[in-house]
Parts: sequence; structure tokens; C-alpha cells
Amino acid sequence: MSRFLIGLLIGIILVPAGFYLYLRSGDAPVATWAQPMPFERFLVKTAMRATIDNEETPIHLGKISNGSLVVGAHIYQQNCAFCHGLPNQTPTVAAKGMFPPPPQFFRPNAKKIDDPASEIYWKVKNGIRLTGMPGFRASLSDAQILELTGFLEEATALPPAAMAVLKTRPAKTQEPSSPSVRHAGLKHRRA
Ligand code: HEC
Repeated sequence: MSRFLIGLLIGIILVPAGFYLYLRSGDAPVATWAQPMPFERFLVKTAMRATIDNEETPIHLGKISNGSLVVGAHIYQQNCAFCHGLPNQTPTVAAKGMFPPPPQFFRPNAKKIDDPASEIYWKVKNGIRLTGMPGFRASLSDAQILELTGFLEEATALPPAAMAVLKTRPAKTQEPSSPSVRHAGLKHRRA
């Protein structure tokens, strides 16, 4: 047998076997705060890019009315702020503990989101596997996802009426502010 074939066979057996042993070793990163696994980012991004390119349908939002941005702000406040944050608020406890971290669309000096509308729409509808970004196809209508898409495109230049919606209530699951609340569970267990 030629050297090439032997090499090929060893490669076919050794590479997957090595990878399997790596996964079983207990050293592969699993915690959200650990480093990405080798090729993790590459695998997820490459697969996602190809799928979105395949499936996305072009969307032309045209001029988005202030009324529509206010509607979008309400939907965002209820469904997204929990992970993606609100203006002038620190990231929520959930956002701080996730890997990959959810982009904070309203952090100071946030840049205008540069994904095309069709891509934002696809991601909100279908979610992004292995990241914690939920798909909303079962909980929001296509029209609501479209409102959100316009809202995110304009997130860095919202009119005052839409900003006011985002100020009314803090994002859910803020860090408990008083120590007694934070340790209530512990005390209870000790008693
Ligand atoms: C449970 C947490 C969570 C919730 C709730 C959530 N997201 Fe996300 N989202 C994420 C994470 C994590 C990512 C980062 C994914 C990545 O790095 O590829 C993300 C990514 C995105 C992206 C892609 C950003 C980019 O730059 O490519 C968009 C757009 C988005 N989310 C919109 C929304 C909208 C709109 C909602 C509400 C309807 C929402 N998300 C709700 C966690 C969440």
C-alpha cells in the first residue's frame, strides 16, 4: 500500500479518535466563562453564514415611522432587553453570564448595527444555535419581528417617544440590590 494511503487511513482514524479523547479529557471548555473550544467559533459562524445566505429573503424596510419604532420598543422591552440591555443600564445578570455574550445594543457609543435587515430578521425569527439567542418564530408574529428589525436598525438614533418606552421599566432580572434578598435562599437552607 502506498504511503499516501497509510497516511490517509491513520488520519481518518487518529484525528476523530484524538478529538474524542480531547472531549473526554475533562479539559475541553464547557463553562460559559471558559475559552472557546478550538474551531468552535469557526464551525458555528461558517454554518450560520451559509444557512442565512441560503434562506434569507430580501427585506426593504423603507422609511420607518416613529409609531412603528414605538411599537418595536415595546416588543424589545418585553422580549429582548433581558439579554440585550436598555439605555443607561448595566448589563443584566443573564447577559453577564452568557457565552457568547449577547451584544448590548444600547451600550454607550454603540455603533449602528451593520447587518442587513434580512439577516436581523432571520436571526430573530430562527435564533442562533449554541449561543443562547432564542428563535422567536413561535412567540412573535412575522409582523412583530419586522417591527423589531426596523427598531434595531434605528437603535442608535431613536426618536424621544421610543426612548421613553425603554426608560419606563428596568430590564427584568436585575441584580438583587439588597444583601438580604441576595442571601435569603442561603439562610433558608441553613435554618
Ligand atoms: C436569552 C438571551 C437572549 C434574548 C432574550 C435575546 N437574545 Fe438576541 N442574542 C443573544 C446572544 C447570546 C447573541 C449573540 C449570538 C452570537 O454571538 O452569535 C444574540 C444575538 C442577536 C442578534 C445578532 C447580532 C449580531 O450582531 O449579529 C440579533 C439581531 C438579536 N440577538 C436580536 C434579538 C432580539 C430582537 C431579541 C428579542 C426579540 C433577542 N435578540 C432576544 C441572546 C439573546
